[in-house]
Formats: sequence, structure tokens, C-alpha cells
Amino acid sequence: MARSAPLTQAVPAWDLFLRLFHWTLAALMVASVTTGLLGGNLMKWHMWSGYAILGLLAFRLAWGFLGGPTARFSAFLRGPGAVWVHVQDLLARRPSFHLGHNPLGGWMVVLMLLAVLFQAVTGLFANDDIATEGPLYAYISKELSDRLTGLHKLNVKILYGLVGLHVAAIAFYLIARGENLVGPMIHGRKTPPPPNEEKDSP
Ligand code: HEM
Ligand code: HEM
Repeated sequence: MARSAPLTQAVPAWDLFLRLFHWTLAALMVASVTTGLLGGNLMKWHMWSGYAILGLLAFRLAWGFLGGPTARFSAFLRGPGAVWVHVQDLLARRPSFHLGHNPLGGWMVVLMLLAVLFQAVTGLFANDDIATEGPLYAYISKELSDRLTGLHKLNVKILYGLVGLHVAAIAFYLIARGENLVGPMIHGRKTPPPPNEEKDSP
């Protein structure tokens, strides 16, 4: 039986909106951390950047149900069995191909999204004891705002760790497994490995 296209041809992996979401989020995170640490007049931009991140997160939540096949939560949130199979593939240095997130990476994505959400939501209630107050500061007590500000400052350190791990994992896939995950997050396409003879036969 004739195949319509060779199976090793690049196929769509990440849709355009998901890629725009990713790189805009990464840029705004850098902007938020920089403006938050520098403070002063930049706090106005810090808040705008935080609102934009909240907007992006709302989009990502909706896209997890309405987006392309690899963007959907149902496609990449897998049970412990699938995660364990992937860990065994890693330990045994067995190649494996995932068009979207691998089962381990899928949970890391959720963790990162939740940590970013926590950061932005605590920011809404935060204050800097000088001139900046989140827009929801007025609705809670000063004590609670101070506590949430403390969590805002603590969680950013967790975010440094998660993003560091994220970039380290991507470097690991490239260096140890020869899988370039960054290219597909830019141009949107992945090339599946050549099929073995058994699968290839009609
Ligand atoms: C503040 C910085 C960053 C944040 C918050 C971040 C966050 C995320 C999130 C949430 C996803 C999941 C995408 C989705 O399904 O919604 C993701 C995926 C991805 N990110 Fe990042 N990212 C950051 C920086 C970077 C950088 C610097 C790189 C390049 C080295 C990178 C490369 C990737 C790749 C390749 C994927 C897809 C992973 C896969 O194939 O499963 N990210 N990132
Ligand atoms: C995910 C987005 C955000 C990130 C990554 C972020 C990060 C940061 C960082 C790094 C600081 C400095 C902490 C320190 O001095 O140790 C900070 C402070 C602050 N952020 Fe955010 N932030 C985000 C969202 C927001 C939002 C949406 C608001 C309010 C609209 C906000 C309000 C504040 C305030 C008021 C402070 C000053 C706290 C103080 O100096 O005591 N942040 N943020």
C-alpha cells in the first residue's frame, strides 16, 4: 500500500498561539522579576506586566480545553504509570518520541503554571510599605497583605528554581538524548523518528 507521505516528515506539534503564549510568558517573567527587584518608578510596569501574565494564564487555561491536540491538558496529564514508563526510558537511555509534552514534562508544566499564577495573585494583594499597593490591597487587612507580600517574595525564589530546572531539563534532553525541544517551540514542528520495519510494513 502506498503511503501518502514519508513518516519521517516534520509534523505540526505546537500551535501558533501556544508558542506565542510561551515566549510572551518567558519575556514577561523576566520583565516582572527585573521591575520587581529594581522597584521605584518601575513598579507601575511591574504591575502591568503582572496583569499581562494573568491574562496569559487565563488564555492558557482556556487553551488547555479548546486548543490544538498537544495543548490540551487531557493530552499531556498522564497517570503515574505513564510517568514511570518515561522515567524508565530515561534511566535506560531508551529513545522515546512525544509529539507534545512527555508524561513527566506535562506535570512540570502544571507546576510552573500554578507557581506563576500564585505569584501573580499574591501580587494583587501585596504592598511595598512605600507607594505601591496591588489593586486588591484595600479589600484585606494590612497584616494579611504583609503576609501575602512575604509569600510573593518567597514564591519568586521557587519560580527561579522551577525555571532553572525547566531550562536544565531542556538542556539535558538536547545533550544527553539528542532531542532538540527548543526548535519545535519556535517553528512548531517535530520530526518523528523513522518507523521500524515491522511498523512500516503495510
Ligand atoms: C521565565 C521563563 C520561562 C517560563 C516561565 C517557561 C514556561 C513554560 C511553560 C509553562 C511551558 C509549557 C507550555 C504549555 O504547554 O503551555 C514551557 C514549555 C517549554 N519551554 Fe519554557 N519557560 C521559560 C523559559 C524557557 C526558555 C529560556 C526556554 C529555552 C531554552 C524554554 C523552552 C521550552 C520548551 C522547549 C518547552 C516545550 C517542552 C516540551 O517539549 O515538552 N522555556 N515553558
Ligand atoms: C508573575 C508575575 C510576578 C512576578 C514574577 C513578580 C515578582 C516580584 C519580585 C521579584 C518582587 C521583588 C521582591 C523582593 O524585593 O524581594 C516583587 C515585588 C512586588 N510585587 Fe510582584 N511579581 C509579579 C506579579 C505582581 C503583580 C500582578 C502585582 C500587583 C499588581 C505585584 C506587586 C508587587 C509588589 C507590591 C511588590 C513589592 C513588595 C515589596 O517590595 O515589599 N507583583 N514582585
